[in-house]
Amino acid sequence: MKKIGVGADEAAFELKKALVEHLEEKGYEVEDYGVHSKQPVDYPDVALEVAEAVARGEHDRAILCCGTGLGMCITANKVPGVRAAQCHDVYSAQRARKSNNAQVLTMGQRVIGVELAKVIVDAWLESEFGGGSSARKVEKIEEIDRRYHAAPAS
Ligand code: RB5
Repeated sequence: MKKIGVGADEAAFELKKALVEHLEEKGYEVEDYGVHSKQPVDYPDVALEVAEAVARGEHDRAILCCGTGLGMCITANKVPGVRAAQCHDVYSAQRARKSNNAQVLTMGQRVIGVELAKVIVDAWLESEFGGGSSARKVEKIEEIDRRYHAAPAS
């Protein structure tokens, strides 16, 4: 697996820090896009930087955290080719991989505790896309991307 991209705004500073430590302890290589302090930033700026790196193929998985996980998810999904899923439970995290082939996981520090977030991250990283009939559906998502966006991010 390539390096895992991880980013957060200031509302998820502690959650992102804990997840980076957790991933490194488990032996994953991590590219930490910040934030590195509680200085406020606009979550779309972080989400765009990380999602564009995913779209360029620099990461096959990335994790984005904000207060709710919603702003990161909405923004990342604007980048063609990126499928971001907000998951605050293990079943959704597994399905986000198996059914949706989501390369980006988003979570909210104001919604879940750190220990549950670690379990969700593990479940998501350990699950693979199932293909089969799901492949046709994901291909339809990509077709929508192609219809509305002339060229991928560069
Ligand atoms: C703070 O800007 C908060 O709105 C943000 O972290 C996130 O929850 C947005 O979706």
